[in-house]
Amino acid sequence: MSLYAAFKKPGPNGFGYASTAEQVTEGLDLTGKTYLLTGCNSGIGLETLRVLSLRGGHVIAAARSEEKAKDALAQVSAEGSATACELSDSGSIRRCVEAVRRLDRPLNAIICNAGIMALPRAETKSGCELQFLTNHVGHFILVTALQDLLAEDGRVVVVSSDAHRRAPAEGIRFDDLAAAKDYSPWGHYGQSKLANILFARQLARRLDGKQTAHSLHPGVIKTNLGRHMNRLAVAVFGAVGTLFLKTIAQGAATQCYLAAHPDAAATSGEYFADCNVATPSELARDDQLAEKLWRVTEKLAARIS
Ligand SMILES: NC(=O)c1ccc[n+]([C@@H]2O[C@H](COP(=O)([O-])OP(=O)(O)OC[C@H]3O[C@@H](n4cnc5c(N)ncnc54)[C@H](OP(=O)(O)O)[C@@H]3O)[C@@H](O)[C@H]2O)c1
Repeated sequence: MSLYAAFKKPGPNGFGYASTAEQVTEGLDLTGKTYLLTGCNSGIGLETLRVLSLRGGHVIAAARSEEKAKDALAQVSAEGSATACELSDSGSIRRCVEAVRRLDRPLNAIICNAGIMALPRAETKSGCELQFLTNHVGHFILVTALQDLLAEDGRVVVVSSDAHRRAPAEGIRFDDLAAAKDYSPWGHYGQSKLANILFARQLARRLDGKQTAHSLHPGVIKTNLGRHMNRLAVAVFGAVGTLFLKTIAQGAATQCYLAAHPDAAATSGEYFADCNVATPSELARDDQLAEKLWRVTEKLAARIS
């Protein structure tokens, strides 16, 4: 545990910065419940797969390839289902949706965990920049295509980041989603993570009855996400990391709490950090922006699907 975690007090629900995924699910019996999880093969996704399975849940483990998903299940000795879901490829998402439908199980939660961060600009056929496409649009297509399969108290959990605060001043650059005019690896990561929060917020208003949608910041954790950071940044990060970084077990806690803990059903449309409700940026609370993002993404999704 980091020095910082040792001093942080738990939040109102008794969980906090130092809580692990095992602790927030302790005593829960998830037998008979089904969780669809993207990015199951690495970092906090792999830990989420392990812990939800440990509690008896059936995890539909999605990775860029079926082989990676199968390997992940084997690595944590879980008996879930493996499926390919390459989020930057609408054809792959469609095939994933069909595979999930064939399993014929109501979904207790969809956990949109997969993500990429701060990479060099990459053009895509879709006309939008790769971080926006993978982190936001891919998950939008997946979730909206499976919405009817959500259990009556089903949950959608969207993994965002505190880095949503690094989004451009206007929030989402609707007039340049390809980032052709100007590209900033961190600014566009921030934009995609802002989109994650706005998506969950808007989805919460559209879901039925007891269904919920939340977004979250998992904390800062050393995972493969930093693969595009420069070497100096990685070295500094590693050196000071022992003071403030979360462990992977702690990093997976907030999404496991939101996916499985009964108390998390009491709210919807909120942003969580350290397993408790937190306040995101002003832009992330802008419902007009959330509505516009929904409309634009819906059109984009229809065009590329
Ligand atoms: N680590 C942190 O400090 C931190 C902080 C804030 C937010 N987050 C968020 O937490 C989430 C999980 O990240 P992590 O830290 O666990 O990173 P990670 O170890 O790099 O895991 C990311 C996962 O996403 C998958 N992925 C990437 N691109 C994909 C695509 N196009 N289609 C399908 N899957 C794809 C990766 O698959 P491959 O292994 O095949 O590439 C991997 O399974 C991300 O959404 C990230 O933005 C992390």
